[in-house]
Amino acid sequence: MKATSFKKEYNLSVNPIEFCIAEETATYGHKKPFTTYYDNPEHSIKLLKGDCIEILNQARKNSVDTIFADPPYFLSNGGITCHAGKMVSVNKGKWDKSKGSVENHKFTLEWLDACQKVLKPNGTIWVSGTTHIIYSVGYALQELGYKILNDIIWYKRNAPPNLSCRYFTHSTEIVLWAAKNAKSKHYFNYELIKKMNNGKQMRNVWEISAPQAEEKKFGKHPTQKPVELLSRIMLASTKEGDLILDPFSGSSTTGIAATLLSRKFVGIELEDEYLQLSKKRLESVINCPQQNQKPKTRRISSKSQEGQNVCCPTYA
Ligand SMILES: C[S@@+](CC[C@H](N)C(=O)[O-])C[C@H]1O[C@@H](n2cnc3c(N)ncnc32)[C@H](O)[C@@H]1O
Repeated sequence: MKATSFKKEYNLSVNPIEFCIAEETATYGHKKPFTTYYDNPEHSIKLLKGDCIEILNQARKNSVDTIFADPPYFLSNGGITCHAGKMVSVNKGKWDKSKGSVENHKFTLEWLDACQKVLKPNGTIWVSGTTHIIYSVGYALQELGYKILNDIIWYKRNAPPNLSCRYFTHSTEIVLWAAKNAKSKHYFNYELIKKMNNGKQMRNVWEISAPQAEEKKFGKHPTQKPVELLSRIMLASTKEGDLILDPFSGSSTTGIAATLLSRKFVGIELEDEYLQLSKKRLESVINCPQQNQKPKTRRISSKSQEGQNVCCPTYA
């Protein structure tokens, strides 16, 4: 079947978000690669239900300004962790089960390749991860010809203790920031970030707490990121009106920060439960007049981080 007839059927052209199934795509076979779970043209928000690799491989190339990706960390393999002071097994869902290092790396290469196609020539991607995947992500970025710009160490002061007492307490995640390729002229709002940091250059160690109860009032996602982390990423690397994509949208923390900061958002997610949670969170931001105004700022002061006295938008 010709792509044009699909385009008509999906009626995507009326949406102001440029990201859509490409008109130039020859065929989609017989399988529709996604369903639109939520579409809010007025606020430029779109949530697609489906597999991000399938969707992005058929999406319009060079259409996205910035991507934030928080992929499966492949942690849910029978280990234990501490949650609310109790020992619990790590089971975040089927999507988080490891398929072994070779298959996991293949998956990483596939989705990063699909993301690279939709990024604009000067676009950038941020990818979060722990030791379980971040080396595979870093290697895949290099294999695909991305240009790694920074590795951000996200330090969580409120990290839970290590119950086995056989390891150091895990209290960091790494967020890699990369440009589409070596030729990209990436955007960095140096002046704003420096201003947010009391006039000093910001370092690559960011102290931000894991999300508090206020950010989970509509329900929980097992790997929810703090709005503050996403807001800082967005302020540093995007402009108002830019199109932000999150291929592993979860509870759409990226969409919350994007909406608060007047950026457009497309999120892709497999699970209904998380799409439902995303919709609730996004609508609360849209419908609450207070939160429709400029995001609130919170002053972070830390003796452990010299020169890191940061004001950053928060959700709560
Ligand atoms: C680490 S979580 C993201 C959490 C998100 N950053 C937040 O703040 O809520 C990864 C999400 O990706 C989804 N997912 C896993 N594989 C996917 C795929 N191939 N395509 C789309 N979504 C996927 C999972 O259902 C899960 O909700």
